[in-house]
Amino acid sequence: MINPYLKEDREYPLITIKRQAEQLKAEGHDVIDLTIGDPQDQTFDGAVQTIQNFMAANSVSQYPLATGSTHYLEAVSNWAERNYQIELEPIKHIFSSNGSKEAIFLFALTFDWSDRAKEIWFSSISYPVYEASARTVNAPIRKLPIDRMSGFFPDLDVITDIEWERCRLFWINSPHNPTSMTVDRAYFQRLLSLAEKHGFIVGSDECYNELYDDQRPVCSLDFHQSDRWVAFRSLSKRSHMTGFRLGAVLSQNEEIMKYFRLCRSPIGVGTPTYNQEAGISAWNDEQHVEHNRQQYRQKRKLIRSALMNRGFRIHGGRDGFYFWLSHPDWPTAEQLCNLFLSQGICVTPGTAFGEDGEGYIRLVYCISLELCQKLRLRIEKIDR
Ligand SMILES: Cc1ncc(COP(=O)(O)O)c(C=O)c1O
Repeated sequence: MINPYLKEDREYPLITIKRQAEQLKAEGHDVIDLTIGDPQDQTFDGAVQTIQNFMAANSVSQYPLATGSTHYLEAVSNWAERNYQIELEPIKHIFSSNGSKEAIFLFALTFDWSDRAKEIWFSSISYPVYEASARTVNAPIRKLPIDRMSGFFPDLDVITDIEWERCRLFWINSPHNPTSMTVDRAYFQRLLSLAEKHGFIVGSDECYNELYDDQRPVCSLDFHQSDRWVAFRSLSKRSHMTGFRLGAVLSQNEEIMKYFRLCRSPIGVGTPTYNQEAGISAWNDEQHVEHNRQQYRQKRKLIRSALMNRGFRIHGGRDGFYFWLSHPDWPTAEQLCNLFLSQGICVTPGTAFGEDGEGYIRLVYCISLELCQKLRLRIEKIDR
């Protein structure tokens, strides 16, 4: 009777880890919780102000449209044009989402999985939602192996034409959670060309695109000529608004957007209207995003040097807000987690993102600068 995947009784791995950290805090341990990518610095203050004004002026609470208010979609459209010089029309090319997680999960429902020869592809170390979604809708899956040698993205050139024919939906996530690695323009272009040739869709999970160190990494919105991508964007990370649940789905593929919209509408409603109003002010403001980038640069530098001094190997890139680490003296993810725990630091084992994450841990630094200083002192106490 029950969906066989749910019967496997697997808890969402990041929830398990978060709960362990909460448990330690409840027991009175002074832990620094670096398990979840939930920014702890101030939410964009313009959003907070907007929501207060909106609540004061509106006494009626009504159902928000599942696809977002026209006003909200226009703000997303203007943001896309301003930052990526791409023209996308509300409704036809953009609709809102409750953050990006839910939309990413639901996207698989848009496709027909009765043909068992067609699959959902994602990396062997990845955000767990792609697999959970695919397995819940009983779509065949293929995990593409990634490792240090492949730059933590799948090697597109080892896949044969016959194999590509099996791909229906390909998930890419750059900057990548958990490694912070990014792909370059040539890689993205090649993927889109393969999608064109073999008729699959690239689901591009891009919530870290605006949190870069030096140069904004390439993303789907840079490919104006392609209708093979569907972009999943969010205010959670760029504007520190995880609790508001605000995101957007964007694509030039009008057919996919039409059916995804049809699938989305009966599933609950959209983000509450007052949150959407706050979201409009955040999409319209770039200053706070630059401020956030600046803060992350400072934190990254601080923690990076402490980690390197203790002999950690940092494998990932410099975008987003994650460090992906290993250490020659502690070869397993469990040993590494225990090592950090011995200094009161909770981190996420690489295995939470797939078996190929063995040997690594992910350390989140979207914490306050003050806490980063405290973290640095604790890292310095790690014995070698
Ligand atoms: C790769 C990736 N995609 C999507 C999300 C979902 O974020 P949100 O639903 O808050 O937009 C996250 C959150 O951590 C993430 O790491």
